[in-house]
Amino acid sequence: MQGRKIEEVVLIGAGNMASHLGLALVGQGIKVVEVYNRTPGTGKNLADRLDARFIADINAITRTADLYVLAVADSAITTLIGSLRLKDKLVVHTSGAVEMEILSQVSENIGVFYPLQTFAACRETGFRGIPVCLEANTEQGKQQLEDLAKKLTDIVHFVDSGNRKLLHLAAVFAANFTNFMVTVAEDLCLAQGIPFELLKPLIRQTAENISHGNVFQHQTGPAYRGDHDVLANHRALLANHPDYLEIYNLISSNIIKYKTVHGKL
Ligand SMILES: NC(=O)c1ccc[n+]([C@@H]2O[C@H](COP(=O)([O-])OP(=O)(O)OC[C@H]3O[C@@H](n4cnc5c(N)ncnc54)[C@H](OP(=O)(O)O)[C@@H]3O)[C@@H](O)[C@H]2O)c1
Repeated sequence: MQGRKIEEVVLIGAGNMASHLGLALVGQGIKVVEVYNRTPGTGKNLADRLDARFIADINAITRTADLYVLAVADSAITTLIGSLRLKDKLVVHTSGAVEMEILSQVSENIGVFYPLQTFAACRETGFRGIPVCLEANTEQGKQQLEDLAKKLTDIVHFVDSGNRKLLHLAAVFAANFTNFMVTVAEDLCLAQGIPFELLKPLIRQTAENISHGNVFQHQTGPAYRGDHDVLANHRALLANHPDYLEIYNLISSNIIKYKTVHGKL
């Protein structure tokens, strides 16, 4: 059965995801009719940017939109669904880590709209080129979400809750942990007054290498080479940073183990 095209959306939440998604939808001519947020200031601000109504009471939510997007902290999904009853309206969340079925008490027509990208408040991140992972419990919902996602990006995949959770875990390693590793590098440089800028071409090249072939084939460094003198020197330099030393040892020993098991690629 062909579902109605999604023309009017309600955003529940006003954080990074709601802001980026809201702006991308409006940019494609989709109307965001209403924004709900726990904190009124942030909610009103986003509603103004999207030319939408702001509501502070979730029970006052409009019943006439085509899609309801829960773009709130994962832990808040459970809190909010207790107050949401939307019969057969299409309701999705945007989380990588929460199963779709959690929404089944809200509506008969549920799904997930999970953009596999990192959205921060300080950076404008468009949707073009971003994979969007979809899930829906009806054929009609699948079609509606696919049509909507394809307005924002060419990379649209249906991924079930189990595989989405695994993708999310992989994304934590690939993006969140990488960002923290670079934070450590920045901290070590700044503590000695060394310009962090010096490391940026290396960081860019590392990200570039990952696009080509098997990732581990680009691995370099003292652990990979088995250079124990350099490893010992680095450990000594980290004597005043016990937390960083723990990370250094753990990752170095994993590189050595990975190379032993998989060989030099
Ligand atoms: N940001 C990303 O890179 C990214 C990427 C993919 C998927 N996601 C998913 O998108 C969802 C939203 O993430 P986000 O990055 O937008 O988070 P965020 O910027 O931290 O915003 C969190 C939102 O949740 C609301 N919230 C938090 N606790 C709440 C509670 N107890 N009751 C009611 N509302 C509450 C916040 O309201 P207040 O303003 O009142 O605090 C805010 O609107 C999450 O499921 C996340 O996994 C995020």
